[in-house]
Amino acid sequence: MKTNIALIGFMGTGKSAIGRALAEKLGWRFVEIDQLIEEMSGKTIPEIFQQNGEIAFRELEIKATKKAAQGKRQVIACGGGMVLNKINVDRLRETSRMVYLRASLRKILERTSKDRNERPLLDVPDPAQRIQALLDFRKPFYERAADIMINTSRLSIDRIADLIINRLKEDEGFNL
Ligand code: S3P
Repeated sequence: MKTNIALIGFMGTGKSAIGRALAEKLGWRFVEIDQLIEEMSGKTIPEIFQQNGEIAFRELEIKATKKAAQGKRQVIACGGGMVLNKINVDRLRETSRMVYLRASLRKILERTSKDRNERPLLDVPDPAQRIQALLDFRKPFYERAADIMINTSRLSIDRIADLIINRLKEDEGFNL
C-alpha cells in the first residue's frame, strides 16, 4: 500500500506551494528533496551546481530521494529533474503515488522569473528557450512516471490540493 504522495513536474509548476497546502490538509509531513540535498551537503543548490556541477547534484538527488522514499505519510516535493534518473522513479513508486503537475510555458516563465538565480538551469540569457528545450526533452519522462496528471495553470493552490485528495480517496491502492 502506498503511503506517500510525490509531486513531480517542471520547475514552476507549483510542487512546493501545492505540496505544503496538501501536507497541511492531510496533517502529513512536507518533505522537499531540494531542501534535503541542501541539508546533506551544507550548500545551497546554486552553490552545488557552481562548485561541483550538475552530475554531483544528481548524485545527491539520488541519495535524498532514497531517504525520502523510505518515510510514510509524507508529501514529497521533488526537484524538476528527478525523473531523469530511473532509479529515483523506481524507488519513489514503491511507496508513493506520483502526481504530475503541469503548467504552460507562459506560467512557468512567470512563476520562475523572480527566483531565476536560485535555479541554475534557468540562469541563462534566454530562459524561455531553455525552458522549452528542457520541457521537450523531459515530457516523456514525466508522463512515464505519472499516476495522476493535473494542469496547474489556472486553478488555485487550494483547489488543486483538494483535487489531489479527491482523486486519491477513490484510489484503492492508496491509504487515505
Ligand atoms: C531542477 C529543478 C530544481 C532543482 C535544481 C534542478 C531541474 O527544483 O532541483 O535546480 O533539473 O529541473 P525545482 O523544480 O523545485 O525548482
